[in-house]
Amino acid sequence: MAASVCAVLLSLLILDITAGDDLDENGLNLCVTSKSQIQDLSRKNLTLVPSNLPGNTQYLDLSYNALRTLTEDAFSELRNLCFLKMADCGLTEIPPHTFEKTPLLKVLNVSQNRFAIIPDLSLQNIQILDLSFNLYKSYKLPYSYQRLKNLNILALGSTNANSVLYNDFDALQNVTLPHLILGSGTKWRSYESGAFAKLRLLGKISLKTTFCGNLDLLEAILVDLNQTQVTAMQFVHVFPDICNVSGNPFASIQSMPRIQNLTIENTWTNSSFMEDFLKSVWLSTIRELSLVNITYNEDTPSGFQLPNQNHTAAIQFITFYGINHYQYKYPTFNMSFELISNLRYIKFSRTGMNILPCYLISEIPNLETLDISDNLLGDTGFWWPGCSYTSVFPKLKQLSLSKNRFKSLSFIAEHTHQMKLLVSLDLSFNSISLDGVTHWPFWLKELNLGNNNLGDRPSPNSPNSLTCFSAATQFANAKGGNNPFVCSCDSFWFITSLNKSLLPDWPLQYSCSTPSAYAGKSLTAIEGLNTLSCETWLQAVLGLAVLFAIVAISGFIFMKCDGVWYSKMLWVWIQMKRRGQKRTAMLQGVAFQYHAFISYSHHDADWVDAQLVACLEGAGLTLCVHERDFVPGEWILDNIVKCVESSYKTLFHRSISVQQDSMVFILLEPIPADSLPKRYLRLRSVLKQQTYLEWPRDERKRRVFWASLKAMLSGANKFMVLKDVALGITETTTLIDHDWTDAF
Ligand SMILES: *[C@@H]1O[C@H](CO)[C@@H](O)[C@H](O)[C@H]1NC(C)=O
Ligand SMILES: *[C@@H]1O[C@H](CO)[C@@H](O)[C@H](O)[C@H]1NC(C)=O
Ligand SMILES: *[C@@H]1O[C@H](CO)[C@@H](O)[C@H](O)[C@H]1NC(C)=O
Ligand SMILES: *[C@@H]1O[C@H](CO)[C@@H](O)[C@H](O)[C@H]1NC(C)=O
Ligand SMILES: *[C@@H]1O[C@H](CO)[C@@H](O)[C@H](O)[C@H]1NC(C)=O
Ligand SMILES: *[C@@H]1O[C@H](CO)[C@@H](O)[C@H](O)[C@H]1NC(C)=O
Ligand SMILES: *[C@@H]1O[C@H](CO)[C@@H](O)[C@H](O)[C@H]1NC(C)=O
Ligand SMILES: *[C@@H]1O[C@H](CO)[C@@H](O)[C@H](O)[C@H]1NC(C)=O
Ligand SMILES: *[C@@H]1O[C@H](CO)[C@@H](O)[C@H](O)[C@H]1NC(C)=O
Ligand SMILES: *[C@@H]1O[C@H](CO)[C@@H](O)[C@H](O)[C@H]1NC(C)=O
Ligand SMILES: *[C@@H]1O[C@H](CO)[C@@H](O)[C@H](O)[C@H]1NC(C)=O
Repeated sequence: MAASVCAVLLSLLILDITAGDDLDENGLNLCVTSKSQIQDLSRKNLTLVPSNLPGNTQYLDLSYNALRTLTEDAFSELRNLCFLKMADCGLTEIPPHTFEKTPLLKVLNVSQNRFAIIPDLSLQNIQILDLSFNLYKSYKLPYSYQRLKNLNILALGSTNANSVLYNDFDALQNVTLPHLILGSGTKWRSYESGAFAKLRLLGKISLKTTFCGNLDLLEAILVDLNQTQVTAMQFVHVFPDICNVSGNPFASIQSMPRIQNLTIENTWTNSSFMEDFLKSVWLSTIRELSLVNITYNEDTPSGFQLPNQNHTAAIQFITFYGINHYQYKYPTFNMSFELISNLRYIKFSRTGMNILPCYLISEIPNLETLDISDNLLGDTGFWWPGCSYTSVFPKLKQLSLSKNRFKSLSFIAEHTHQMKLLVSLDLSFNSISLDGVTHWPFWLKELNLGNNNLGDRPSPNSPNSLTCFSAATQFANAKGGNNPFVCSCDSFWFITSLNKSLLPDWPLQYSCSTPSAYAGKSLTAIEGLNTLSCETWLQAVLGLAVLFAIVAISGFIFMKCDGVWYSKMLWVWIQMKRRGQKRTAMLQGVAFQYHAFISYSHHDADWVDAQLVACLEGAGLTLCVHERDFVPGEWILDNIVKCVESSYKTLFHRSISVQQDSMVFILLEPIPADSLPKRYLRLRSVLKQQTYLEWPRDERKRRVFWASLKAMLSGANKFMVLKDVALGITETTTLIDHDWTDAF
């Protein structure tokens, strides 16, 4: 019962956070001069465009209403209309004179409707026109489109249009079009050569179509684009999961002298494909390469082989954002980094990386920006002790380590001294705490420590968050001042309560950088502020206070929810009991040397050494504790896989095929089963079905935990455990009444 109360509170909390405005930012910037001119009527069950809209409306959103038809005078009173969105309204056509009285229209989004042909529109000032996800059968553009001289983005796409004909884009022959988005994700049956070559003044193309089994078509398209002004290409979902790609479909990019930016998105990539692809990129004029949301499958035994290139690549910016590993394997490279001496920017985010390869640290000579936010890196994952290098990022200026698992501020501070040109360091969203004296290099000018575990002083609204200022203390000690401070009401509290005698150069060297109203002013200026000037922030503060109250209440109830934990423990027990006999029968004649093999992350080594091993061996169990010997410089995940494969493979397989429950999972903190790579589909499902033990934070519950674990490993004395479980329950919760526990 209490559990359901908890759940309700939690969902309330989530709703509260996510409820927010859903306005189109492009549209707002282009069109809106005052908030009162915005009309958001989306999802209002309208069947007609309301006739009583204010005449000065600039921004009108009618999306997700069942309008179905429009009348010619629907918008005739809205002379200032600049942004109009009618996505998913069931529209089948736009009557010819609909927009005659709205000459200022700049954005028209009619995606996800039912147009049977591309509607004829003459909109002098239109900049963004979205006609994607409709039902037209052909991409033939009406001739009126030759008058769209201000067009910036044109989006076309229909699941019914699966061929591109030679004359389809004639109307845009003399129109400067910065960005064309084309396709609806489906495969095209045919493409008539020359069709895209008509788009002479095109700047960027995004193709949302799959080329699996259609590589000739891709080739023809690249040849045609080579005759236009296109400098940037984006391919979305080029290859689906099941697709046999042979040869090098992107070989032509080597001879396309204008292409500078190339993005591959939502695609399955094999290392065999990647090898050919990267060779082409290497030899091309491409300066920026982005791979976004790709699934990586290593189907070549030794990763990428790109040795012996004698051509310095033009590439300057590389982005990897979102890599799903088909195997638990990181790319292995055999290439010379000297030949990418132009490389200035690397972003490697959402890849699950938890160790930085040694070569990255020393061998990219001109790297200026390294963004490895949103990974699983910790202090020694980044500064891996086994790496030997002589120089560390010799030209690096910007480093983002945001959203990782860094912990020790003093460790990080000490290591930044190796980066002699580092100006900006982003450490936000980690688990960093102040753990001693930190000495920052004086050349470091920007430091973001937001959302960490600094500042153990109570704060009314951000008990667990930042504090540029506790860090500023350290800055002051090293050299001081000239750091950009954010002067908001958030820091107002901090500034007024900070002991300034800790800052030797206060206040001269301390000035605000943002917001603009305070830029350049001394921090003392906001020290003199009263709470009134913080009024605009008051709402936010109040909101936060309410949220924290809810968190506190739900936290309190969760404390009372110990019953959940005990029920889980009991459930594990019931499972064990049920399978016990089956197991004994199956394992007759199999001799085990150990009671258990323990596989764990080095992250948890302290716990394993001090608690797990000590306690279990103390109880007479024999353990095989596999200390992982990492090969320095290799990806940690490779090491884990090697460890599992070399030491545990037979037992592992047995556990899945013969003995369903020989694995005992101990979760020190929850892990989502989805975070496991796809190759271990069976492990995923086992983890989903299997019972596992959670390490309880509560000291009192640990007795139950140990008893359960020991009994599981030795198969002994189940009743002792049940008694412990029962005792634990009666001691700490009143959720379950005594008669029930007595039943054991
Ligand atoms: C629209 O109609 C549905 C069902 O007819 C109803 O559940 C919903 O609340 C309505 N939405 C609005 C905004 O009136
Ligand atoms: C048009 O609206 C759809 C649906 O909201 C949205 O996904 C799309 O990004 C919009 N198009 C443009 C060009 O903003
Ligand atoms: C584009 O311009 C060329 C020459 O300037 C002209 O021959 C052609 O008809 C024009 N096409 C369109 C569709 O306006
Ligand atoms: C692109 O055009 C150049 C000439 O501008 C030509 O040398 C090259 O072969 C063309 N590449 C392709 C793929 O058509
Ligand atoms: C990737 O490799 C697998 C074999 O490992 C193959 O079946 C698949 O077709 C390949 N896919 C692509 C896109 O190359
Ligand atoms: C992929 O296609 C090539 C030839 O097109 C063929 O030789 C090869 O066996 C195919 N591979 C797979 C895994 O189907
Ligand atoms: C190409 O990449 C550069 C470098 O990141 C970027 O500044 C530019 O806006 C990109 N151009 C296009 C058309 O996307
Ligand atoms: C990532 O790509 C896959 C296809 O490879 C697609 O199904 C999925 O929706 C994409 N995810 C996002 C967030 O775009
Ligand atoms: C290296 O350059 C030479 C000529 O300069 C060329 O013949 C050779 O193919 C190049 N090798 C590679 C791997 O590109
Ligand atoms: C790297 O490439 C060179 C040259 O082809 C080769 O001799 C070497 O064995 C490769 N190294 C690895 C680890 O594959
Ligand atoms: C401020 O710090 C100095 C030096 O550490 C200390 O002597 C002084 O008592 C502190 N003042 C307050 C108000 O905490």
